[in-house]
Formats: sequence, C-alpha cells, structure tokens
Amino acid sequence: MGYDMRRTHMCGDLREGHAGEEVALCGWVNTRRDHGGVIFLDLRDRSGLVQLVCNPELSPRAHALAHQARAEYVMACRGEVRLRPPEAVNPALATGKVEVMVRELELLNPAQTPPFEIQEGVTPDESLRLRYRYLDLRRSVMQETLLLRAAVTRTVRSYLDENGFIELETPMLTKSTPEGARDFVVPSRLQPGRFYALPQSPQLFKQLLMVAGFDRYYQVVKCFRDEDLRADRQPEFTQIDMEMSFVDADEVMTTVEGMFSRVFREVRGFEMKTPLPRLTWRRSMELYGDDRPDLRFGMTISELTELFASSESRLFREALGRGESVRGFRLDGVTSPSRKILDELVEFARGLGSAGLIWVVREGDDLRSPLSRHLSEEEKTGIVEGLGLGEGEAGLLLLGTFEETSERLSRLRRHCVERFGMEPRTPWSMVWIVDFPLFEWDEEEGRYKSNHHPFTSPKTEHLDYLEKEPLRVLSDSYDLVINGSEVGGGSIRIHRRDLQERVFRLLGLGEEEAWEKFGFLLEALEYGAPPHGGVAFGLDRLVMLLAGRDNIRDVIAFPKTQSGTDLLTGAPDVLYPQQLGELRLKTI
Ligand code: AMO
Repeated sequence: MGYDMRRTHMCGDLREGHAGEEVALCGWVNTRRDHGGVIFLDLRDRSGLVQLVCNPELSPRAHALAHQARAEYVMACRGEVRLRPPEAVNPALATGKVEVMVRELELLNPAQTPPFEIQEGVTPDESLRLRYRYLDLRRSVMQETLLLRAAVTRTVRSYLDENGFIELETPMLTKSTPEGARDFVVPSRLQPGRFYALPQSPQLFKQLLMVAGFDRYYQVVKCFRDEDLRADRQPEFTQIDMEMSFVDADEVMTTVEGMFSRVFREVRGFEMKTPLPRLTWRRSMELYGDDRPDLRFGMTISELTELFASSESRLFREALGRGESVRGFRLDGVTSPSRKILDELVEFARGLGSAGLIWVVREGDDLRSPLSRHLSEEEKTGIVEGLGLGEGEAGLLLLGTFEETSERLSRLRRHCVERFGMEPRTPWSMVWIVDFPLFEWDEEEGRYKSNHHPFTSPKTEHLDYLEKEPLRVLSDSYDLVINGSEVGGGSIRIHRRDLQERVFRLLGLGEEEAWEKFGFLLEALEYGAPPHGGVAFGLDRLVMLLAGRDNIRDVIAFPKTQSGTDLLTGAPDVLYPQQLGELRLKTI
C-alpha cells in the first residue's frame, strides 16, 4: 500500500465537520452502484460505511478501477470529503450527509463472490454463516454484539480490579472437576493410557487459591462441558469466575450486585435497583414452579389444595387422597378466552404429561368451566378469590404432586407468555434464588446428588440432620436469574475436611474413591483453609441477554453447532494413525 494511502480516518466516523478535508480510508466494498458516468462505492470498515464517489473527470484511473470493484473487494482510497447535495442526503446512515470524492483508489485484494450478501437486514442461513464465519462476522449486527461482549468483559475487569480482586489463571489440562456434565479429555503422550480432563470450571483451583491466601480471585475463563447442547449451551463457554475469603453469602451477592449495576449502566444505560430481590428456592417453586423465574411477568401460582379438602367431586377427592395438590394461576393477557384457545392450552398441558388442565373463566357471578357442575358454590368463590379472577379472566389449574405441578405450571406459564405475546412489566428482572436444597435424589442412579456441586456448604443450622434427613438440608447457595435465565450461581464452600468427607459419603463416594479423586482438596483443607465462597457467571448467557439475542451462538465468534461441530474448521476430526500410535490409542 502506497505511503500516502495510509488511513487517516475510519469510514463510519466521517461527518459534516470533515467537509473539505483530505482523507485516506481502507475497507471492504459494501455495494457498488454504476450511474453511467459516476460510480458510487460504499466502503465499509468496523466503524460503519461511507459513500465514495468515483468521477472519471476527477480521476479516470480511480473510475476505471471502481468499475471492476465487486462486493467485498478490499480497497484503499484518498480524496476529499464533501457535503452531499441536499437531495442525496441519506438520513438512515450516520455518514449520510457526506461523501468522499475519490482522487486515488487502490485495490488491496479482490474477493470471490461471497456465499451470502453482507447487508443490513439480511440474515443468511445459519450453516452458511458458520461455514464462512469470517464473512458472517463482517455483518454489522455481529460486529455490534462482539463489541458489546468486549465492553462487558472490560467493565467486569475494571470493577473487579478496583474491588481488590486478582486475576489469576488456572490450568486447562487438569483432573476432572465434577459440575454435573461429562468431561472432555485429552490423552497424554508422555504417560500413555492417562488422560487430562479439560475443566468444567476452575472450581477446585479457585478454592485452592483461597487456601493459598489469594483472597479475592477472578478469571474470565473458558470452561468445557460435554453435555447435550441447547440454545443457551455450548460445549466450551466462558465464565466470569470469582472467589472470596472470610465472606458470607450476603457479601458475595452484594459484591456481585455492584458489578452488575456497573455493567447494566455502562452497557445498557439501565439503572439497576439494589439490593436485588431474593427468593428462597422453596418460595420460588411455590410461586413460579421454577428455580429460574421470569419476574417480568405476573401469573404467580396459588395453591388451592385446602379448598378441595372435602370436595364432592371425585376428581379432587381422589387426587387429594393420593397426596396431590391443586395449584394454578390466573391467565394474564387475555380476557374471555375462546374455547379454542382454552382447548389449545389443555392440549399443551397434556403434552407436558398432565392428565388434563382445569380451566375456569369468571362470568358475572358464575364460573364457566367443563367442571362447573361438579364445583360447589364455596369452591367457585374460593377459586375466584384464590386466583384473583376479575370479570372475564381465566384461571388454569393442575392436579399432581408438588414437583409435577411445579414443572408443568412453570412450562405452561412460559408458554402463555409467548402464546399471548405478553408485554414485560419491566425491561429487566433480576432476582437471586437462594437456599437451594443441598441434595436431590437421583431416581435412575438411586443415590443423592449435589444440587450445585459437592463443595457447597450446608447451612450450619442444618448440620444436625445432614445424615438423618439429607433432602431437608439447605445449602448456602445462590443463583442469579435475569429475565428467566440462569446467568450464574455460587455458594459458600465447605472449608473443613470432616464436613467435606461427610458430604462425600452421602454422595456415595467411598473413602478410597474420595481420596483418589479429591485427596488433594481434602489435604489442603487441613492446612489452614479459610472460610470462603464465590460464584461464576456465564459470560455468553449474560451477553446474549444484554444483546437481546436468543441463541448463544450469536454472541460467540466461533461457536459450535448443536452437534458440537465447528463448521469452519471441520472439528472434531479424525487423527492420523501415527498420532493415534504416539498416544497409544485405538479407535473402534
Ligand atoms: P455452574 O455450573 O452453575 O457453576 O455454572 C455457572 C454459569 O455458567 C453458565 N453455563 C453455561 N453457559 C453456556 N454453556 C454451558 N454449557 C454452560 N454451563 C454453565 C451458566 C451458569 O449459571 N463452579 C461453579 C460456580 C461456583 O460455585 O462458583 C459453576 O461452574 O450461566
């Protein structure tokens, strides 16, 4: 590139104030319009695009070259900025009042015709986008999203630096840390038959850093989990990982609120009200049937079991006899729903495994419902009051165990939000869900499993019945839920060896196995481990929310498909026999 073509400005930065200035620009040809005589090129770089005017009278050479230019050619130019004539102003474009009269034009690199158009408002097929990701990333929406992602990490880093956190790295080739998924493993060449695991999170290392005295650690770190992928899950993703010593759950949450306030203010201009609301896990299940409730919408669940304690209706009597409950919510967003809509909701509930869905609609003093003949006056009034039904409003009720109704009502609630296009009450809802049960019972494996991970501390006041009633034990844990999405979670950790061993035992880990897997942790806990706790946030999920995207792939530069493939490079790939040999591996 000739010296005098070295760029002086970014394309998207030119404004009226630059009129009369000589500028040099570099970028990609976005579009070319040949108006017989004059050729217009829109030149694009990261900052946006600007119109170049190639007039044969000003420069026959530049005009001739512009004639050959095609979309995505890389070009440099020099020329004078001038105001566009009033009729040619483009208000949709930041640079729409100016254009550059090209004196010199240089072709830096031609380009093949791209497999899709790189234009605002055009969303190409996703597999093409992933195959040619470097072209997809040229689209302004992708550029904006990744810049937003960078702004989030920058803000997080500066907040944590200012608050005494130290950024430390932890190994990628390591021993498996259980976070509930399968490990990705890496064979060792130097020790054939042995494998490293890629970290599912830096959980144990950050705890060891607390033992080491590095109070207040953080890391923006890649984590790897071999699990079934969904719209908000990737096999490798990034966490904002933190750990602190000598803190309680409240202090961790307060610190995090400070960080999120800053992120939302700087990135979205949103003033978050702190402290954020906190709901216990139990209350969240009662009110929303969900441990990641979206509080932008109402439709809280009411329990009406008591009302039917002496019901004449066989349906209720039998359900209550089986120890089931009657729970439901008032349907928001539609008044006097038609039979068609209600039938559709019944179908949806059946699809969730429910035997049926009881709907009621308040009409004057009466209730319209397939069950209305079987309901006493008292029950009808009780339903209206219990669900808070106004005239024409509908209530949806389910019968089942607490767990069944929770699961089904939460899905029904999410479905209704979408189905009826409900308007959120606020743009952002943030809530901490706290005090999760320490364990859950795994039916398939017939054993207790950690709800969070095995290093989470039970509440001190529940220690007495840890062995007697494990399912009653709550933990010192917290999840941050934003707009119905679990953005992060953490806990106060166990810092005493004896307690850690009790928990391992309850999880069915024999002494030998516990030692083999976690001996290094148990040992460290005996060398002056301070009380500590921390939390980790899914950066990708956070950016997804902030950018208003509904797919995690859209906030990652080079993501994998649902089946874990990188369509750009073709990974995962087979190995040459020689590589397999070196690793002493055989594929079957
Ligand atoms: P947890 O397993 O809850 O906690 O993970 C923390 C957060 O990471 C995000 N996340 C994911 N994002 C994208 N793709 C995935 N496959 C994926 N899996 C998890 C979620 C989640 O809330 N070590 C503990 C934290 C701690 O106790 O400090 C941990 O990893 O947003």
